[in-house]
Amino acid sequence: MAAVTNAPSVIVRAANADEGRAIAGLWRELWDAHEAWGGYAGTRDPRVYEQLAQRLSEDARVRGGQPVLGRHIHLVAQTDLGIVGQVEGWFERHGIDETTPFTCEVRSLIVSTRTRSRGVGRALLEALAQVARHMSRGAPVVMAAEVLEPNPAHAFYAKVGYSPVSWTARLATDGADDPGTSSGPWVARLATPDDALAIAMLDTSLAARRRSQGDIRFDRPRAVEATFVGALAAHLARPAGSLDQCEVVVVDEHQVVRGSSSLTVMSLDPPFVPARRGLLGRFAVDPALDPRPLVATLVRLGRRLASMRGAATLELTDLDPPSGPLNEGALSTGARPWSRIVERYA
Ligand SMILES: CC(C)(COP(=O)(O)OP(=O)(O)OC[C@H]1O[C@@H](n2cnc3c(N)ncnc32)[C@H](O)[C@@H]1OP(=O)(O)O)[C@@H](O)C(=O)NCCC(=O)NCCS
Repeated sequence: MAAVTNAPSVIVRAANADEGRAIAGLWRELWDAHEAWGGYAGTRDPRVYEQLAQRLSEDARVRGGQPVLGRHIHLVAQTDLGIVGQVEGWFERHGIDETTPFTCEVRSLIVSTRTRSRGVGRALLEALAQVARHMSRGAPVVMAAEVLEPNPAHAFYAKVGYSPVSWTARLATDGADDPGTSSGPWVARLATPDDALAIAMLDTSLAARRRSQGDIRFDRPRAVEATFVGALAAHLARPAGSLDQCEVVVVDEHQVVRGSSSLTVMSLDPPFVPARRGLLGRFAVDPALDPRPLVATLVRLGRRLASMRGAATLELTDLDPPSGPLNEGALSTGARPWSRIVERYA
């Protein structure tokens, strides 16, 4: 394949089959840095990186010099020092509205410490955006990256035109002082198919909030209509395994649903040390009410459910900016700021 970007002294291109080991070395650098910022631990076992190197070489062989395989993009940066950086992209469209932009998630961006601040990171992101534009065939594409709060890369993303649009907090699930899943008049419980209409209506406020924060990865607010409510009811009625996504709602003293969110528990695969992480997101609350106690009540149940499913931590995703009411509700449960999503058009 021809180089996607050829800025002076840096070439960005697909990986070659003999470069697995060099790329695995970059992953090791990334995982060590990630851990230093309080992120999930990466393994120290050299055999895992040896297997990763083999998998990366095999992957490059299958790609045959093309950065795109299905929805996955993989690019490396080469200078006179060899392979000095890499980035992955995951291309998809969230939602069902055809006017919603495609999203290219920026993943595992790393530039070796020996070649930082020489334009390599910028070149990798520019090349990734170019590939994503090609994949979207002219439709709008938004680039989105998650940056942990302690990572100094916030300044880098600001320089290359990305802005924060969504915030995440995190808490441990072993709540020794767990005050239960009710608070004042609010009680959290798992959603049932009967909650479909209420959740569909709350979804409209979620969509409006995301757009108002500048997060354009998701569908615009849509009219609540029977097909959508029916699909949601069917989703809530399905027999869900213990690791499947589940919806939780918070109800008032009259059993009226006033807020909802979704819980997922995911496995962390090597080169992470194997573990489980819970994700509680899609917070939607009745716009007429103070969201703080509603969010806190949802989080307490989410924490309990995540713990029962083997997750040691729970990430509270899709929050509003720090000092926003949802964020404050999340932090009131003992959660700490964890990361933010930054975005720009490709
Ligand atoms: C973030 C990272 C990829 C940046 O790569 P890089 O090659 O050093 O970045 P560039 O040289 O292309 O920088 C582009 C601009 O951002 C600025 N910049 C880069 N890192 C910066 C930092 N830590 N603080 C302030 N500015 C920074 C550069 O000065 C440059 O500004 P300019 O356009 O005015 O010259 C690199 O630091 C890295 O690999 N960090 C560890 C892994 C990581 O954080 N990955 C991202 C996970 S979300």
